[in-house]
Amino acid sequence: MYNLLKGKKGIIFGALDENSIAWKVAERAHEEGATFVLTNAPIAMRMGEINKLAKNTGSEVIPADATSMDDLENLVSKSVEILGGKLDFVLHSIGMSINVRKGNHYTNSNYEFTHKGFDISALSFHRVMNVLYKNKAMNEWGSIVALTYMAAQRVFPDYNDMADNKAYLESIARSFGYFFGRDHKVRVNTISQSPTLTTAGSGVKGFGGFLNYAEKMSPLGNASALECADYTITLFSDLTKKVTLQNLMHDGGFSNMGISDVIMEDFSQSLE
Ligand SMILES: NC(=O)c1ccc[n+]([C@@H]2O[C@H](COP(=O)([O-])OP(=O)(O)OC[C@H]3O[C@@H](n4cnc5c(N)ncnc54)[C@H](O)[C@@H]3O)[C@@H](O)[C@H]2O)c1
Repeated sequence: MYNLLKGKKGIIFGALDENSIAWKVAERAHEEGATFVLTNAPIAMRMGEINKLAKNTGSEVIPADATSMDDLENLVSKSVEILGGKLDFVLHSIGMSINVRKGNHYTNSNYEFTHKGFDISALSFHRVMNVLYKNKAMNEWGSIVALTYMAAQRVFPDYNDMADNKAYLESIARSFGYFFGRDHKVRVNTISQSPTLTTAGSGVKGFGGFLNYAEKMSPLGNASALECADYTITLFSDLTKKVTLQNLMHDGGFSNMGISDVIMEDFSQSLE
C-alpha cells in the first residue's frame, strides 16, 4: 500500500455488509493509514455486520439516521472528539428508494415514499455538509465524496425515482461544494459508479440485465466495488487537491459509448 491517507481522519457512511461500496472504502482507507468513524442508520446496525468491520479497522461505530439533524450533529461532534481533531474526508454512501422497494412503477409513485426516499438518498447529503460546514469540522484541503449513478443524466427506466434523487444529489455537490471550497478549502465531488452487486444495487428491477449490458458496453468492463474504493481513496488523498464540483465517471468507459462490437453482434444475430 502507499500510505496515501497516513494521519487522515474521516467518517464513512453506509457500510451495511461486505458487499457495500462503503465497506471496501473503509478497508482500503485503513490499509492506507487513515483512522475513521463508521456510521449507518440505527436499523442497519441491528444486523451487527458493521461491528466486524469496526474490529478489523480499529474504528468506532456511531449510529446516525442521515435524515436526522440531531443524529448528524451528535455523529460529527463525537467523531471529532474520538479521532482527536477535525476531519479530512467524509464518504456519503447512502441510497434507498421506498418506491423501488415496494415495486411501485415510476409513473405511479407513492409520493410519501418519494419524499422519504429523497430525504434519505439526496437531501441527507445536504444535511451532512450543513453540519460539517456549520461546525467547521473539516480541515483545509479535506475531501467529501458521495456516490451516484448515471441515471441522473440518462434514462434507465427501472432505476425509478432514484434517478431523480441522484440528479439532485449531484447538484448539491456542486452548489454546496462552491461554499465549502470558497470558505474552507474543502472539495466536494460525486463518483458515478458502474452497476455493482450490493444490497442497494440488486434492489433495482432487472439488475442482472443492467449489469451484463453495462459490462458488454464498457471497453474496460464494469468497475467493481473494490475499484470504486480505490478511486475514492485517490479523491481523499492529497493527490487530487484541486478536483472539486465534479461528477466523476467511474464506469469502465460506459458513459461515453454509443455501441460496442459485442452488443452489435448480439443484435445482428437476432435480426438474421
Ligand atoms: N450498487 C450499485 O449498482 C450502485 C451504482 C452506483 C451508485 N451506487 C450508490 O452507492 C451508494 C452505496 O450503495 P451500495 O451499492 O454500496 O449499497 P448498500 O445497500 O450496501 O448501501 C446503502 C447504504 O445506505 C444506508 N442507509 C439507508 N438509509 C439510511 C439512513 N436513513 N441513514 C443512514 N444510512 C442509510 C444503508 O443502511 C446502506 O448501508 C448509494 O448511494 C448507491 O446509490 C450504487
